[in-house]
Amino acid sequence: MGLKFLPTTFLIYESVTSGSAALYRVFWLYMIVAGLVFVIICSVIGYLIMRYRAQEGADDPPQNHGNRKVEMTLTLMTAGVGIFLFYLTLSTMLDVNKPVEDQEPDLVVTGHQWWWEVEYPGENVTTANEIHIPTDKELIVELQTADVIHSFWVPALGRKMDLVSGNKSYLRFNVEKPGTYQGTCSEFCGAQHAWMRIKVVAQPEEEFDRWIAENSQPASMPEDSLAVTGRNVFDRLTCGNCHSIEGTEADGEIGPDLTHLGSRETLLAGRFENTPENLHRWLSDPQKVKPGAHMPKYILPDQQVSALVSYLEGLE
Ligand code: CUA
Repeated sequence: MGLKFLPTTFLIYESVTSGSAALYRVFWLYMIVAGLVFVIICSVIGYLIMRYRAQEGADDPPQNHGNRKVEMTLTLMTAGVGIFLFYLTLSTMLDVNKPVEDQEPDLVVTGHQWWWEVEYPGENVTTANEIHIPTDKELIVELQTADVIHSFWVPALGRKMDLVSGNKSYLRFNVEKPGTYQGTCSEFCGAQHAWMRIKVVAQPEEEFDRWIAENSQPASMPEDSLAVTGRNVFDRLTCGNCHSIEGTEADGEIGPDLTHLGSRETLLAGRFENTPENLHRWLSDPQKVKPGAHMPKYILPDQQVSALVSYLEGLE
């Protein structure tokens, strides 16, 4: 678009896709144009104030009204700047937002109150909140919601996209640089909207394939006695009506898939680091940790909570 000279970062934000680079360039273009207009107007006002300020003994200066030439020039200049920015915005939008037609998505992201479900069609992998993707590959992401409107936005990857009930929306991007990129739900969606974070882990292809291979395995069987007890508690409380654990009877689809919970870095859509202590706090009193969350509170003796934690954290 001829804007290649403009930067593709802003403060802590960097772009790692051509789409986000294009957006940052348009952002900078607006900053520069608006900045120039600001400086020019301030200078003219400043000059006029100094040049025509009240002078001792002088009469009021002549009062002039209407000047067709000046008015036309200013109107055309303003319209010109508007049309220029409109054209660049529109062409960037068309560039960044190519339609997706009849193409299979590489991943399907579903927004829930208040977490993200991530599925890899054809790979038998389902996870939550932490999205692993390969670098240097054009990806098509299908977005949908299970309840209210959410919005998926990871600034480094490009545009924001709303998830609207009864509708599928799409994003496409090709991440050029391995790394971890943070994002968040960007449409107010209820009590825990602020804790609906997204973490995208972009990995070179072999590393990503390894992750897929590990995550397509069924859950590991609990070994020590505490974890075995935990599994029994899990079954007894019918946790599997809401959560899935591949390789067991648990096949619920209301809450996050727990097959490989132990290998995730965070809990509760970025609310906490994934540690046994934090999982223990959550299971003891979900409403205290994430008020409004749809996880029911079970009144359990501390020992049974510890058993559950041992079982779930062992699912790697
Ligand atoms: Cu989901 Cu805000």
